[in-house]
Amino acid sequence: MTGLFDVLKPGGDEWALAEAIDPSRLPAHIAIIMDGNGRWARRRNLPRVAGHRAGMESVRVAVDTGARLGLQALTLYAFSIENWKRPRFEVDTLWRLLRLYLQRELPEINRQNIRLNAFGRLDALQPSVRRDLEEACAITSGNRGMQLNVAINYSGRAELVDALNAIIEEARREGRLDLLRVDEATIASRLYTAGLPDPDLLIRTSGEMRISNFLLWQIAYAELYVTDTLWPDFRRSDLLGAVLEYQKRDRRFGGLGPAQETPAEADGTETGQLIEALGAPR
Ligand code: FPP
Repeated sequence: MTGLFDVLKPGGDEWALAEAIDPSRLPAHIAIIMDGNGRWARRRNLPRVAGHRAGMESVRVAVDTGARLGLQALTLYAFSIENWKRPRFEVDTLWRLLRLYLQRELPEINRQNIRLNAFGRLDALQPSVRRDLEEACAITSGNRGMQLNVAINYSGRAELVDALNAIIEEARREGRLDLLRVDEATIASRLYTAGLPDPDLLIRTSGEMRISNFLLWQIAYAELYVTDTLWPDFRRSDLLGAVLEYQKRDRRFGGLGPAQETPAEADGTETGQLIEALGAPR
């Protein structure tokens, strides 16, 4: 987290937030559903694309903050398979903004030792967009800092379908289709996020209580954080606030936390007495 204090004003609000964060309990992986660009623009009587353009600055700030926090991975939902339904001009503008972002930010991404990774059904992208993405990923591929995943033409269900088909195809090629059995580890190893920890924290801006087909498998135990802030207004303090909120959560992964279990429950005496009182067989 040391790099974070380098860019904060001592005594300022962001400084206070950063100081309140426990560096030993940071989320390893944060995923963000960046929502609200259109509403941000509409409130200012601007075209929707102005919201996307303003959202680019929030991307820059989130990436910078994530890297300075020392996250292992930050995953941003930039374009869903369903987003093709939007007007042609808006979709084309999103591609232009993505290319502009890469052109402008690549030197800084590289300087911060960030490894860029684009995932989704990338075959469907225009060749120019794909080329820029592939080049940017290749340039940063040797970096060992935070992994920045940009989900593009992405859908969680499509990801699972592709993973399962890849498993079936591999088994067919190797002549072991008859014996094929899959387990969780096999599926996880075929997802775009293979090798990364699952997101600990999923942030959604603009107040909608939806998952929108994002990382369906990977967010099984993620802490959800929904803020009314629209994505173009999302600043460093919002991300630090989300991390602080995450650190207040009691993550139990289906088990019990220390506060939930009395000593008598822990050693079984209380449960035994209760079963006796109910007349139930032990
Ligand atoms: C959702 O807001 C946002 C998107 C579909 C696109 C996100 C794109 C960016 C933030 C721009 C650049 C991205 C990168 C990675 C450089 P919305 O349009 O659905 O908002 P609304 O719900 O208010 O209409």
